Amino acid sequence: MSERDDASIYRSPVGTHDVLPPESERWQHIVATFAERAARFGFGLVITPIFEHSEVFQRVGASTDVVRKEMYGLTDRGGRSLALRPEGTAPVVRAYVQHRPTPPWKVWYVAPNFRYERPQKGRYRQHWQLGAEVLGVHDPDLDVEVIALAHGFYADLGLRRVRLIVNSMGGPEDRARYVAVLRAYLLAHADGLSGEFRARAETHPLRLLDAKEEEWQAVLERAPQITEHLSDEAREHFEHVQRGLDALGIPYELDSRLVRGFDYYTSSTFEFTSDALDAAQNAVGGGGRYDQLAEEMGGPVTPGIGFGIGIERVLIACEAEALFTDLTSGLDAFVIDGVGDGTVAVLVAALRESGLRADRAYGGRSVKAQWKLADRCRAAYGVMVGRAESEREAVAVKNLQTGEQIEVPRAQVAGWIRARRQKSGLTEEHQ
Ligand code: HAM
Repeated sequence: MSERDDASIYRSPVGTHDVLPPESERWQHIVATFAERAARFGFGLVITPIFEHSEVFQRVGASTDVVRKEMYGLTDRGGRSLALRPEGTAPVVRAYVQHRPTPPWKVWYVAPNFRYERPQKGRYRQHWQLGAEVLGVHDPDLDVEVIALAHGFYADLGLRRVRLIVNSMGGPEDRARYVAVLRAYLLAHADGLSGEFRARAETHPLRLLDAKEEEWQAVLERAPQITEHLSDEAREHFEHVQRGLDALGIPYELDSRLVRGFDYYTSSTFEFTSDALDAAQNAVGGGGRYDQLAEEMGGPVTPGIGFGIGIERVLIACEAEALFTDLTSGLDAFVIDGVGDGTVAVLVAALRESGLRADRAYGGRSVKAQWKLADRCRAAYGVMVGRAESEREAVAVKNLQTGEQIEVPRAQVAGWIRARRQKSGLTEEHQ
């Protein structure tokens, strides 16, 4: 194999990326923020396999691009047709149907998803989602709670430029009736527009509604709206959701052209967009009801609702809104070896066991090089194990911000640093 081939092979595949420190600290913060909020809302963590039988996705999204064109399929050595998860809802519903937990079943997840998309900023072939799903409840109060869970998460992070857009797809009959009306309208107005418009009007009229093509907009803007075709029950449900959002003070916009990218949606649908992102990839999360999905997978009639939030997009939004500036945490202590007698190994272990973040250099580096490393690690304190101090069973502790230095008995140094770190609030914040 030539050198050039090696150079491109030993890189992460197109559309994927490595997450390295310190960026990974932001990830941890985002996931921990979501996990903490989900627990407060009564959700438990669910972990499903990264791949499923292809049918799990094909059955629920046969007409969607994500399933038709973007799925990573594979055949295993046993001849099974499998697919890497392109989204999180179908596997969770599959798990519900398989295990039949007592409803309501409230679960959250953090998982990678795979879609063979054209990569660009905010659109990847492997992306990560935080998500939540609830199975077994049709009450519109739950729609409000699920939306509030996501809304509060963005607020917890400090994001201010996230907008919530809501819509209703109605029940399956409403949706079918509306699709027929919409298709007839679009085809009646297809003259002069491209063949692609006509083809899409025939096959996926709903999906046309959020098409970005400039020359189609005049026709799309005047298209009949789903909300005019809702049954009384679906309309009441949707109005109840809006009243619930009002009661919780959650701002939202109604948009009857909001079309989510999967076939399974019924009733309430919603999307969170960030004005801090490029318009083409500004969805930082989205979801809705899928009241038929469990049944389609061979389970009992079980309503469901949930959402997925793209972690990479949330990160981009946080950066664009200049959050995280003071997130990066350094070490509490960096121990410097001036004697080389093994004391440092024992001291570092003791500091770590006491709950501090402590590190050291390896390989007999010079004392000067070790101090440099302590600075680079953004350690709060440098702990010097020097010959003179060692004779007194003490260490020299230097505050690396102020330069102040003090001698502390070796046996007390962990407690000494802990007390000061707790006072400055830094240790707890990162525990
Ligand atoms: P989705 O809208 O396809 O919905 O994805 C949810 C979120 O994942 C998007 O709003 C976006 O933030 C992020 N996302 C999607 N594709 C990519 C990509 N290629 N690169 C980066 N980020 C991406 C679902 O997946 C549904 N399962 C959501 C759901 C849960 N509905 C009900 N329950």
